Amino acid sequence: MTDIFSAVDFYIEGLFAKEDEALAAAVADMKAAGMPEISVSPVLGRLLSVLAKAVRARRILEIGTLGGYSAIWLGRALPEEGRMLSLELDAQNAAVARTNLARAGLSGKVEVREGAALDILPRLIASGEPPFDFIFIDADKEPYLDYFELSLRLSKPGTMIVADNVIRHGAVIDPARAEIPAVAGVKRFSDALAAHPAVDATIIQTVGVKSHDGLALAVVREAR
Ligand code: SAH
Ligand code: DHB
Ligand code: MG
Repeated sequence: MTDIFSAVDFYIEGLFAKEDEALAAAVADMKAAGMPEISVSPVLGRLLSVLAKAVRARRILEIGTLGGYSAIWLGRALPEEGRMLSLELDAQNAAVARTNLARAGLSGKVEVREGAALDILPRLIASGEPPFDFIFIDADKEPYLDYFELSLRLSKPGTMIVADNVIRHGAVIDPARAEIPAVAGVKRFSDALAAHPAVDATIIQTVGVKSHDGLALAVVREAR
């Protein structure tokens, strides 16, 4: 991304999103484990935590843990009695995330559950899991709309649902890239979100150290 956007991102980071030792160590461990560098940026991690606090989240669900970087930001937004569940397909990622969360002092608050989100979410619904206050969708992109519809069933009025990577460098408005599965997945999600009667929603595009992308933000009016 254009240098000015990265430079301003670093400026905001210096003001609001400085990484402490636990976050810096998490980044180092993820790199050492050979993970792709696709965690949210510090500034977007901070945004997630501000949003979680805005809805006074006591129960948070994350779909897509990777190394636990966004989970640390969100886990830190919880009050003392708050709890977070983060879903991760890959057992190795989950193990790295648990180590990173433990180092951040969040083992007691954040559970990383291994498995495919499309298996785990229906089981949570069937077993009567209480609603979450904040849900962060950030796993594989093709089933984003399914993740959203399942999330609605784990929501209550006022739940905030946030979905990462819905702009993808502007690929979502490029007809030549419309067939790329991940692009088609987030577009299908955003189209449905815009038309959905149960939520008030929008997208903010983001620039900075992680390049040009976007976050969808939705507040649930009525659970489905
Ligand atoms: N939220 C993380 C980044 C997540 S990257 C952060 O910002 O720090 C996306 C993650 O989703 C990867 O770790 C990937 O293994 C996981 N994932 C992919 N498909 C999945 C699925 N079907 N169910 C659960 N997790 C999945
Ligand atoms: C990808 C996934 C992400 O969650 C992200 O933030 C950036 C890129 C990807 O799969 O390419
Ligand atoms: Mg993402």
